[in-house]
Amino acid sequence: MNFHLKVWRQAGPRELGRMVDYEARNIPSEASFLEMLDIVNEDLTSRREIPIQFDHDCREGICGTCGLTINGVPHGHGCTGGETTCQLYMRKFSNGSTIYIEPFRATSFPVLCDLSVDRSAFDRIIQAGGFISERSGSASDANAHPIPKATAELAMDAAACIGCGACVAACPNSSAMLFVAAKVTHLELLPQGRLEARQRVLNMIHATDAEGFGGCSNFYECEAVCPASIPVEFISRTNRHYTMASLRTAIGIPD
Ligand code: SF4
Ligand code: FES
Repeated sequence: MNFHLKVWRQAGPRELGRMVDYEARNIPSEASFLEMLDIVNEDLTSRREIPIQFDHDCREGICGTCGLTINGVPHGHGCTGGETTCQLYMRKFSNGSTIYIEPFRATSFPVLCDLSVDRSAFDRIIQAGGFISERSGSASDANAHPIPKATAELAMDAAACIGCGACVAACPNSSAMLFVAAKVTHLELLPQGRLEARQRVLNMIHATDAEGFGGCSNFYECEAVCPASIPVEFISRTNRHYTMASLRTAIGIPD
């Protein structure tokens, strides 16, 4: 398969970026999107040109490192059914088509180089959540903490977030609320994380605001592009949790 690529090239965080044309030739239909870029980069390297920089790690859809805006949509959704960029295959594209490739766009995700962005704001939000009081050491027996099945399932749904940042890139407000709601919910639902639930939600929301992410305005674009199918219901749940935590703290009700 052959493709015409229009790729965002930016030499560094302080440099101006621009779209550059490339030809991707003889791409196997079973190649992933990142493997297609590998082939283009091998060609660039053989011609002593600087290869295109992009983020990747596991290439199995589990680490959340990869993330490109493809034809205007984070992870190229629309040609996929909810996968990460590394799980998007070239057979989903028409032979000979033109593909626009850009980094995830958000002020809080500054471009480092080409398609690579700095998503360490997510790490700082996680750090603001703090630790849980569960003792470390050998794993406790599975029945040590009885958890209703429905609650465990809901917590697992929230824990599926891989921290890719597509929800932020898709949101007109660059809101990180789907990510934050997933992280808050998965710990808040379980007994191990419930002890610090109030302080955790307050700290994480405040950290999110401090990082410059926008507020949620219910556009639902986040849910549409999320490769982990995190539902927006977790956002309303977290908003309720945050409101109650703020009120209880303001009037001095103990945990
Ligand atoms: S909520 Fe979905 S889109 Fe957002 S960071 Fe988590 S996995 Fe990625
Ligand atoms: S490289 Fe790990 S999710 Fe894509």
